[in-house]
Amino acid sequence: MNPTETPTDRTMKRVETDGGVPMEDDQESTADAAKADGGTEKLVDVSPSHSVPDDDDDVRTRSTETAITTRDLNVYYGDEQALDGVSMDIYEHDVTALIGPSGCGKSTFLRTINRMNDMIDVCRVEGDVEFGGKNVYDDDVDPVALRRKIGMVFQAPNPFPKSIRDNVAYGLKIQGYDGDVDARVEKALKSAALWDEVKDQLDSSGLDLSGGQQQRLCIARAIAPDPEVVLMDEPTSALDPVAASKIEDLIDDLAEEYTVIIVTHNMQQAARISDRTAVFLTGGRLVEYDDTTKIFEDPEEQRVEDYITGKFG
Ligand SMILES: Nc1ncnc2c1ncn2[C@@H]1O[C@H](COP(=O)(O)OP(=O)(O)OP(=O)(O)O)[C@@H](O)[C@H]1O
Ligand SMILES: [Mg+2]
Repeated sequence: MNPTETPTDRTMKRVETDGGVPMEDDQESTADAAKADGGTEKLVDVSPSHSVPDDDDDVRTRSTETAITTRDLNVYYGDEQALDGVSMDIYEHDVTALIGPSGCGKSTFLRTINRMNDMIDVCRVEGDVEFGGKNVYDDDVDPVALRRKIGMVFQAPNPFPKSIRDNVAYGLKIQGYDGDVDARVEKALKSAALWDEVKDQLDSSGLDLSGGQQQRLCIARAIAPDPEVVLMDEPTSALDPVAASKIEDLIDDLAEEYTVIIVTHNMQQAARISDRTAVFLTGGRLVEYDDTTKIFEDPEEQRVEDYITGKFG
């Protein structure tokens, strides 16, 4: 959030549109928006899901430090180019949303950041991804250590067939952590807003939880090793609106400690939870990247406005 902005300033952002706003799981807020606008103009409610700030709500201060910088990133799968010259500064403790139509390279971009693309044989990366003063593609960077610093949460909740405790402790064990594992598990589950629901059943299987709980478990697993960055690829698209809203609340809290980069197809979600939004369009090009307010209120590019207002994509 801009330091000069009050929480109320962020509560409503106006998007002119004569089309529908693309969405997946956010029927309710769009219905409200349609009511508020008399049908001619959409209001996108971009307040965080805990929309009425209470006295305890911390207002995050926006950082000017970059967490990750990509320079001239080109990514290919065989002969197919999936990202084309993407240069982008991602700021610490921001929630950065990546939006754009299917196939424009959002997941590729996320996976390039923590070298998950290394696992895809045909994938080739050109350009730099700077993180912690180094290019993550330098020969002396250990991808496993990198992924501890840059954790990832996927679209479908994917707990291991292990106990809740072991799911969360997984990264710590790989890392050979010899401190108080239970304390770290508790801290991660609390940060993932799941502790109260599971504290009496830490030995039961992670697979016995509901979908929304499983996704929060996966978030706890990603943050237990205390990463600096959390990548999320459509983390709520497989969840019902209530579970999705819990994750949205959580993302805002997570950004106090971590840098969060989230891919979403849900425009309202991007508008509500992110500080900056990057719009990718076909061909794997980053077309516009700016404060979320600017992208949703007054984008520079007509193509971006057309995408946001549902004219294509
Ligand atoms: N493992 C792979 N092997 C070959 N091509 C791939 C692979 N993964 C992605 N691609 C191709 O790279 C391009 C970008 O795909 P990517 O999955 O990054 O898009 P996306 O923006 O995340 O799409 P979606 O919104 O549908 O998830 C697409 O043309 C896709 O077919
Ligand atoms: Mg994707």
